[in-house]
Amino acid sequence: MSCTIEEETLMRNSKILIRGGNRLSGSVSISGAKNAALPELAAVVLSDGKFRFTNVPMVEDIRILLRALQNVGAAYDLNGDELDIRLETLSSGLVPREIVETTRASVLLLGPLLARNGYARVSMPGGCPIGDRKINYHIDGLKKMGAAFRFEHEHIIAEANALKGIDYRFPGKTVTGTENLLMAASLAEGTTVLRNCALEPEISDLVELLVSMGADINADDPETLVIEGKSSLNGASHRIIPDRIEMGTFVIAGCLEDNDILIENAAPHFIDSLLDILAAMGCRVQPVGNGMKVLACGDLQPANISTEPFPGFPTDLQAQLTTLLTQAKGTSRVTENIFNNRFQHVLELNKLGAEIQLKGNTAIINGKTSFTGCNLRATDLRASAALVLGGLIANGETIVHNAYQLFRGYENMPEKLQKIGACVKMIDSE
Ligand code: EPZ
Repeated sequence: MSCTIEEETLMRNSKILIRGGNRLSGSVSISGAKNAALPELAAVVLSDGKFRFTNVPMVEDIRILLRALQNVGAAYDLNGDELDIRLETLSSGLVPREIVETTRASVLLLGPLLARNGYARVSMPGGCPIGDRKINYHIDGLKKMGAAFRFEHEHIIAEANALKGIDYRFPGKTVTGTENLLMAASLAEGTTVLRNCALEPEISDLVELLVSMGADINADDPETLVIEGKSSLNGASHRIIPDRIEMGTFVIAGCLEDNDILIENAAPHFIDSLLDILAAMGCRVQPVGNGMKVLACGDLQPANISTEPFPGFPTDLQAQLTTLLTQAKGTSRVTENIFNNRFQHVLELNKLGAEIQLKGNTAIINGKTSFTGCNLRATDLRASAALVLGGLIANGETIVHNAYQLFRGYENMPEKLQKIGACVKMIDSE
């Protein structure tokens, strides 16, 4: 269900109180992937058919995109993690600012709206605290497909009589850029070849959905997608893959101290790059069934990591791993290559007692440091998770302000942590 305004206001001002030092044990179940669900909900625009999604993560960014879809004519019914949705008749191509201001996901509606309707009016994606979030590759590719763009009052307006297939090489790896053009190409006239595509698992999941809708996509080489445009696509049923970033966040939580947690409904192969780093640090993570068991790790070794496009180490786990590296004995280095301002959690972790210096796009972490609980401020989604992890091992109480950030991408994080023994609760703003 979408939040009421009051609930949303409360959530925006809410804080999380964490009393550190509890041992974590028990099992935690991973939700569906936010970053798979977002493009897949956008794909609903490509068809007037019925869709049923399961394993849908009810996080804020999803709620916001559902409101945006309602705004252009979709009707949906949500029952737990099961979503029935249909956009039988497009009522408008307008996605207003109040809907998109806190999430960039609306940019994923550009391709589908243009393909379905030849018109899209989407608010410029909200400023993002983690750095430049350009969309020039999206626009460049859609222009080559025949779309004309203009910019008015912070809106992007795109129009196209008909989209035509193109042979396009992305100048750089872009997850949502690949997704946007892939969706547009599915209904374009003729053949589209997309080169230098991003390889994140969420893109493969989107390809699977589109093919089940009747799209003609050759992904034998996932870096070069070949799409034969169709005149129309059908509805489909689809189960969303597990969220690899939530998975990685809980694995890191398990490695923080002598914990013993079982992570279920997971897909270890989605986070191989993290598991390799954790093994080198001396952490004990064992695949178990469709999940992983994280056992007490003992003394942690430092590590040097760099964020890269998939299958490299993901930027979305960089903040969380930085928290863990503060507990390793020795000097670690974290280099952020994807975004140019994704170290805002460092200032906050240093308030807890970490010793992290920033040099350009590298954080130099001297460990092992002990943490003392204090007031912290969440600046972005993954930074908020890093601060919660810091609170779990701090002496005393930590309050994370602006906790709304956490709920943008993590489903029921406080409840999931409580279930494995953490002392975590929501406190409302006074
Ligand atoms: C997706 O964002 C994810 N969001 C991000 O997750 C993730 O951090 C990012 O990919 C990288 O993996 C969703 O999938 C909804 P990009 P996206 O386009 O697609 C530059 C989270 O925490 N670039 O792959 O916006 C860009 O500036 C979020 O869940 C251009 O220059 O990222 C960045 O430096 C945060 N021009 C780099 O490429 C473009 O047209 C990667 O961006 C597009 C991107």
